[in-house]
Amino acid sequence: MKLGVCYYPEHWPETLWADDAKRMRELGITVVRVGEFAWSRLEPSRNDFQFDWLKRAVDTLHAADLEVVMGTPTATPPKWLIDEHPSILAVDEQGNTKGFGSRRHYCFSSTVYRQECERIVSKVVQEFGEHPAVTTWQTDNEYGCHSTIVSYSSDALVAFKAWCKNRYGTIERLNTEWGNVFWSMEYTNFDQIPLPMLSVTELNPAHRLAFWRFSSDQVASFNRLQTDLIRKHSPNRDVMHNFMGNFTEFDHYDTADDVDIAAWDNYPLGFLDRDSVNEEDQRKWFRTGHPDSSAFHHDLYRGMGRLWVIEQQPGPVNWAPHNPAPAAGMVRLWALEAMAHGAELMSWFRWRQMPAAQEQMHTGLLLPDGTEDEAVGEIKQLLDDLQKLTPFEYASAEAEVALVFDYAGDQMLRIQPQGQNYAGLEWVQQLYTAVRRNGVDIDIVKPGTALTNYKLVILANSVYVSEPLEETLSAFTGQVLIGPRCGSKTEEYSIPAGLPPDGLQKLLPLKVSRVESLPAFYRITTPEGLTAVRWREKIISELEPQSCFSDGWGFHYSRGRFHYLNVCLDQESLIKFVAARLQQAGIVINNCGEGLRIRRHGELVFAFNFGPDEAQLDESKSFLIGTARLDVAGVAVWRE
Ligand code: GAL
Repeated sequence: MKLGVCYYPEHWPETLWADDAKRMRELGITVVRVGEFAWSRLEPSRNDFQFDWLKRAVDTLHAADLEVVMGTPTATPPKWLIDEHPSILAVDEQGNTKGFGSRRHYCFSSTVYRQECERIVSKVVQEFGEHPAVTTWQTDNEYGCHSTIVSYSSDALVAFKAWCKNRYGTIERLNTEWGNVFWSMEYTNFDQIPLPMLSVTELNPAHRLAFWRFSSDQVASFNRLQTDLIRKHSPNRDVMHNFMGNFTEFDHYDTADDVDIAAWDNYPLGFLDRDSVNEEDQRKWFRTGHPDSSAFHHDLYRGMGRLWVIEQQPGPVNWAPHNPAPAAGMVRLWALEAMAHGAELMSWFRWRQMPAAQEQMHTGLLLPDGTEDEAVGEIKQLLDDLQKLTPFEYASAEAEVALVFDYAGDQMLRIQPQGQNYAGLEWVQQLYTAVRRNGVDIDIVKPGTALTNYKLVILANSVYVSEPLEETLSAFTGQVLIGPRCGSKTEEYSIPAGLPPDGLQKLLPLKVSRVESLPAFYRITTPEGLTAVRWREKIISELEPQSCFSDGWGFHYSRGRFHYLNVCLDQESLIKFVAARLQQAGIVINNCGEGLRIRRHGELVFAFNFGPDEAQLDESKSFLIGTARLDVAGVAVWRE
C-alpha cells in the first residue's frame, strides 16, 4: 500500500516546498494530491492562465521522487467567473440562489458552467497531462459535499423537462407512471412540469424520485465531460474521483463507471458524530469510530473500481458537531484496515494545518508552524508494519457473502420512510455489522452483478427489484436473505400490481398485506428472543412462518434457500438471525464480540480492536504484527 498526502502548495511560500517534499519522502509518502481548489491561482482573471507556479511545485515534488495526483479545480469556480455568469450558482429548494464565499457553489445543470469546465479542464490537462510526475487525475472534489447534488435553477428546470420527455416519451405515460390523476396533478405537456419544490405539502414521491434520478444523471454526465478530456489529453494516466462516507444523494455506480479508481474520503470520528442515530454507539466509539464504518465504505467502493483512500482523518477535524481526538493508535489502525480491505493508497488530509480560513481547526500531519503533529508518530510505526508485511500481494478473491446495495432503493426509503425513525442506510449497515460480528468477510455489489461464487446473498435495500437483479437471484444457487421493503415499489414509485415483494414472488410465494412503523418505545419479541423494532410486515402466504409474534403476526418466511425477513430486528437479534443464515450457507462463523473485527486478505488475517475492552486472540498463531493480546486500537496480523 502506498502512502500519500493532500498538499496545497498555493497555501505556503515557495521557499517551503522543497523541504516539504523532502520531509514527505522521509515519512514514506510517495503520492501527493494537489490542485483541486486552485482555480483562482491558475486563472486569476479570464484567460490569464498562470500555470508556472504549479509547474514548479509539481517539478519540486517530482525531484523528490513523489508521484502527483492532480485535481481538476472545478469544485471552486472563482469570483470573476461567478460575477460574469451568475447563472452558474446553484439554487436551493426555497428558490434562493446560493452565494459565493465557500465552495461547490455551482449547479450541475448550468450550461455555461459546463462550457467553463471544459475550458479550464482542457487547459490544465493539456498543461500537465504528460508531466512524468502526474500519474493520476482526480475529477472535481467530492461531488455532493455540503448537499450540492440538487439545484433548482432555471437551467435545471429546462434540463429536467428534457430528461422527462426522454424518459417517458409522452405526457400521458408520465401522468400514468406518476399517478398524477391524484389531486389533479396532471400535465398536458412536458413544458408544464415544475421542479419538485415549494409545495404546500408532500410532493408526489414519483416526481421526487424522477428528480433524484435526473440529478444523479447530471453528476455522471458532468464527470464524464471531464474524464473524456483527461483520457484524450493525458494518455495512460488513471482517473479517480473522491467519494464520501454515508452519502447516497446520487447513484455512485453510474459515476464510478467512468473512473479507474473509486477513491473515498474517510473521517471515521466525524461520520460517527454527525451521522450516528444511536447515542449508545456514539458514546462507545467516539474515539475509534464505529468498527464497521470504514470497512463498509472500503467494501462499497472496492466494488466500483480500484480502491484508494485519498483523504484520511489524521486527528480532530473541524466540521462535525463535536470533533474529538482519535484514540492513540487509530491512525495506524485505520491505515492497516484500509489495506486489509484492498486499498492501494492511504493518503492523509492534509500535510500541514492551514492557520487561516474555514479549516484552520482541522489537524494535519504537521502543525501550522511545521512541527510534527501526533499522527506522524503512528505513521512511522506503520512504515515498520508495512515492512513486516512485504511482499504484500493484493488478492482478488471474493468473500463468501455479498450484500446488494442499491442507491435508488436508499433514496426511495428516504422519500417516503413511512416512519420517522426508519433509517434505511443504517439498516443496511446493521446487516453489514451482523455479518462481520460473526467474523465473516463481505463484498458489497451493485444490483444485477453476477452472484455465482457467493454462498449467501443479502438483499438489503432493493426497494425496486429490476429484471437483471431478479435474473441473477434466480440463477444463484446459494442462500438468499431478503430484507423488509425489498420489492415494495415499482420502478416509478407505486405499489406493485401483485403487491410486494414484487419481482421476488416466483422465488418466494408470499404477499405483504400490511406494514406498520413503530416508535422507539415499542419493541416486540419472538418466542426465540428476537426483537423487532421500527418496522413490521404482515404476510399472506401458504408458507408457514418460522415463528410468530404474540399478536399473531408471522415472523420469517422461507422456502428452500430463500428467506424473507419481514421486520427490522435490533442489532443483537440481527446478529443471531444472520448467524443462522450463514451457517445454513455452510459458512464458518466465529462471533468476535463487540469491538474486534477480522478481515482476511489472501493468506493474511488481520485483527483490529475498536474496543471498548482489550481482546484476546488465539495464542497459537504466528503473528507477523502484534500479539494475541490486543489493546484498544491494537492490530494483529498472521498468515493462515
Ligand atoms: C473533505 C474535503 C476536503 C476537506 C476535508 C476536511 O470533505 O474533500 O477538501 O474539506 O473534508 O475534513
